[in-house]
Amino acid sequence: MRSDTSHPRFPLGEYIRRHAGLPHDLAQSGMRGELASVRTLLRRVEAGNPEELSRRIARRHGVGPERVFLTHGATEANTLVLFHLARRHARRRGGHPRVRVRRPEYPPLLDTARYAGFRVLRTPGEPEVALLSNPSNPEGTLLSSDALAEFTRGSRDLLVDETFREFSSAPPLKDGGSAELWLTGTFTKAFGADDLRVGYAIAPASQVEAFRNASWLLDGIPPASIASALALDRGRSQILREVRARFQQNVRTLAEFEPEASVLAAPVWFDRTTSTLGGDRLARAGLRRGVLVCPGRFFGEPRGVRICLTRSSFPADFAAYRSVKAELGLLR
Ligand SMILES: Cc1ncc(COP(=O)(O)O)c(C=O)c1O
Repeated sequence: MRSDTSHPRFPLGEYIRRHAGLPHDLAQSGMRGELASVRTLLRRVEAGNPEELSRRIARRHGVGPERVFLTHGATEANTLVLFHLARRHARRRGGHPRVRVRRPEYPPLLDTARYAGFRVLRTPGEPEVALLSNPSNPEGTLLSSDALAEFTRGSRDLLVDETFREFSSAPPLKDGGSAELWLTGTFTKAFGADDLRVGYAIAPASQVEAFRNASWLLDGIPPASIASALALDRGRSQILREVRARFQQNVRTLAEFEPEASVLAAPVWFDRTTSTLGGDRLARAGLRRGVLVCPGRFFGEPRGVRICLTRSSFPADFAAYRSVKAELGLLR
């Protein structure tokens, strides 16, 4: 058994799990049990094969099916890609490869990159890999193509985690500019299918063979998960209609008070209005009143907190959050 110190830890996940069951949960980005269309579609699941699922994903991304690697969710996809790239660049130039990330960023991306052997580049320079969630978790926004090109400048590989993309109609990223593009995605968020654990990585054409060798750790997705993911994929337009309507409704609720939130492309928002107090203190005050939010320090930005807009209970949860802020004198 591995010791605690060598085992990768995801402190954000631990924080959320430690505080499960509070009446107002604005910390969960998962969609378990939220979508009626998903419940209906999963009642009529026919057997299917992974090749068909890969073909459907490949078609939407405009790539050959051999470039799609099915995984147990986006977490595994990000992990396999980062371990592959760390080895590849360490072999090429020796020493520790470097990665550029944004702040704030979804913390497991950073934790996994470090665990795979990357050094995080804090000063201007040319990292081997640029890594981001887009739309961003925790900010919920999409990067413009100019900003993405600037972020990627000088790197050889670009890994974009598109876990939240399907909450809006934004098309998948098609090209990484000067860098080789790796994409990851999942059925666990916009498809409300947390329990299926099906996601994927899309490798650049030039590295498909090398990545196939590196991804020997992939042990195949259970047939029941493949069949269910196929059922959801076939019912894709029905599900996305429902999930986007819910998301837009929650965005409208949020934007009544925070107008800049009307541009959100993903069901997360990073509240910086708390900066005089700090994210930890606001999160603690929330906990005392049964409101769970994620302290910004987990994302590398301790002045704010992240809240999620995934649930149908969002209007009530957000009202409870606003009363905590009102008591603390934080409302604008
Ligand atoms: C940006 C991002 N990537 C990956 C994941 C994990 O996805 P999965 O549950 O498919 O492993 C999450 C979960 O919230 C996420 O926000």
